[in-house]
Amino acid sequence: MNVGFLQFKPVFGNSAANLNKIEKMSQNIRADLLVLPELSNSGYMFKSKKEVSELSENIPGGPFTQGLINIAKNRNMYIACGLAEKAGGAKCYNSAVLVGPKGYLGKYRKAHLFNDEKIFFKPGNLPFRVFQVKGVKIGMMICFDWIFPEAMRTLSLKGAQVVCHCANLVMPYCQKAMVTRCIENGVFAVTANRTGKEKRGGKSLCFTGGSQVIGNRGELLGSAGKAEQTIKIIAIDPKAALNKNISKRNHLFLDRRVGLYV
Ligand code: ACM
Repeated sequence: MNVGFLQFKPVFGNSAANLNKIEKMSQNIRADLLVLPELSNSGYMFKSKKEVSELSENIPGGPFTQGLINIAKNRNMYIACGLAEKAGGAKCYNSAVLVGPKGYLGKYRKAHLFNDEKIFFKPGNLPFRVFQVKGVKIGMMICFDWIFPEAMRTLSLKGAQVVCHCANLVMPYCQKAMVTRCIENGVFAVTANRTGKEKRGGKSLCFTGGSQVIGNRGELLGSAGKAEQTIKIIAIDPKAALNKNISKRNHLFLDRRVGLYV
């Protein structure tokens, strides 16, 4: 299975330009599964709830999601991508969609909101869920979910072999932490981070790039630099993630002492 990330710098507030960029950058790749950053349609630094609402879209009916579906059909691949979602009752979620050659498969809403996101988005209300992509179980999580081991553990216990991690990372720890997340769960992960700086409303944030593909034993299989806009696709064997034996007498899941974790 060929999996990878697209790392880019979304233009704040210009969903059409961002879709166009994703389409151009992915024109010549051959991938089964491509992961894109968090909030790829909108950018990150909102000034008001009104702005969030204006830059969010219905899933799957919105133009950005439909554009991703077109790319997935044209390139015959699956795409996991973060975007701002407008749901019923004008509620907005920091969400990710999974789309493929046959269209929309499903969405995830970020469970663990980071900092000012708590002002602008509702916390996710959908269970962590796995999807089938070409016979492989795929999970989705978004950025700050990384700091809660329960997110990746839950996906892994549900059978995820590859975790798509759409991100807008600003802290320096995540890329290293994801190595541990992969080791402790025996799964592959693709972190697609954004790059660049946003300066809005008197605040500024610098996004850390460093997108990466991590193997089921924590190997760094591919990565990007801090600032470059790039795509990287890596061949993996997702069947390796079915083996949870870390030694002859240790199984990552069966050795858990759930009765003591109270
Ligand atoms: C983050 O969760 N976007 C830091």
